[in-house]
Amino acid sequence: MPGEFSEILAEIAGFRAVAPDLRELQEFSVEIMARRLPRYNWVGFYMLDRADPQTLVLGPYRGASTEHTRIPVSQGICGAAVAQEATVIVDDVMEDPRYLACSLETRSEIVVPIRVRGKIAGEIDVDSHTLKAFGQPDRVFLEACAALIGEYLATHPY
Ligand code: SME
Repeated sequence: MPGEFSEILAEIAGFRAVAPDLRELQEFSVEIMARRLPRYNWVGFYMLDRADPQTLVLGPYRGASTEHTRIPVSQGICGAAVAQEATVIVDDVMEDPRYLACSLETRSEIVVPIRVRGKIAGEIDVDSHTLKAFGQPDRVFLEACAALIGEYLATHPY
């Protein structure tokens, strides 16, 4: 994994050890990614609504405000990642009919599920203004971030 990704992961892991709650851990994570990774123009968490597990609810994020504060798992790239239980990378959002627009500038997107004891609880969503911004290193990095958050959730139910 490129050094910048390893450093950010280490910082998130360090903060996780002292994080008072999930929201603070998520705030720390989106802040450091948005600040250190120039291609990550929008970074945010969506978590499944515990009262309605077919719906994702927007959590902490950095970037343009979005009207998509609640997304049914049947819709969007965000919903697809939950439905497929897998990371989804879209090289060109204009070519993907599932895409729900957040910012007119977004060109590519990656969505990575967060699992708690094997079950999907939410996801990390990253948008870029650059076409094909996300590759294997981003997938490995974000899946490691999702694993860190998932482990935290296993012992700190939200
Ligand atoms: N693009 C996402 C919606 C969320 S916004 O990008 C923040 C999707 O297609 O599900």
